[in-house]
Amino acid sequence: MKVKQIFELGLKMGIEADPRGVKGVKEYLAQTKKEHAELKPKDKKYFDKSTLTNPYNDSAIHVDDGKTQVKRAMVGIDIAEEEILLASQLNERRKKIDLVISHHPCGKSLADLHSTMDMLTDVYEGIGMPVHVAEKVNEERMKEVGRGVHPINHYKITDIANLLQINLINTHTFTDNIVQKFLTEYLAKKKPKTISQLVDCLLEIPEYQEAKKRGAGPNIYAGDPKRRVGKYFVDMTGGTSPSEKIYKEFSTYGISTIVGMHLHEDSTKNASKQNINVVVAGHIASDSLGMNLFLDELEKKGIEIVPCGGLIRVKR
Ligand SMILES: [Fe+2]
Repeated sequence: MKVKQIFELGLKMGIEADPRGVKGVKEYLAQTKKEHAELKPKDKKYFDKSTLTNPYNDSAIHVDDGKTQVKRAMVGIDIAEEEILLASQLNERRKKIDLVISHHPCGKSLADLHSTMDMLTDVYEGIGMPVHVAEKVNEERMKEVGRGVHPINHYKITDIANLLQINLINTHTFTDNIVQKFLTEYLAKKKPKTISQLVDCLLEIPEYQEAKKRGAGPNIYAGDPKRRVGKYFVDMTGGTSPSEKIYKEFSTYGISTIVGMHLHEDSTKNASKQNINVVVAGHIASDSLGMNLFLDELEKKGIEIVPCGGLIRVKR
């Protein structure tokens, strides 16, 4: 497979797992197309045309020589400058790395991280929150995240990859959608009644077992092991942590338990104030689970995976 084909396979899997449904994604892309068509000529040159087909602005092809048949990919949850240098060193030692895949965004996808959060409005509406509430809370948070990522030196990693001619892509919301779908279906089957049973269910998954050994397994941030789970919400996708104000709305619209990837301290306090239970499954383990389901498909196509950058590689 070439780099573009690998990226497109991830994109397809991400869209198929999208909580908005394939139809919802198509509507989103149609809206983007309309907005592009209506842009003034002076604004059109700044428009990223990849967003006409890729609804996840936090996932992109950063470096692609266009010709490599990828036989071996080095994959990390985080790829920094040192991992790119490592790939280049491995190349010199005859372990040719044809492609580096990062989960977390870099380059343009880091600068655009906040725009992926658009999808959360639909997600919240899907759990019964009125759209005006979902939009208001989400819009504020998108602006906050946008201001947060704005000053970062986004292109440091892609600059190195370009200089060393290392192919580089990142697949963020693609694989967060995949873990979101996987855990939603898994917990629907398992039907845990209490918070302690919920944690036990998570610990049947190898990525969470390994994370616990590494000191970052599932953790109850708010609530008590004996409490009932009630109506729960799996919060694994949508760019980054949601607004700390969302927990009041979750409680108002019937959510008793959140199964999240990570949670800020203020969000934990707000969830507690609303008597919501919060089980944090674990950040890197959850990211790994989503990536693994994608990487298994690459392995089936004959690509060797070299894990690095925190990836807990489990094959299924
Ligand atoms: Fe992450």
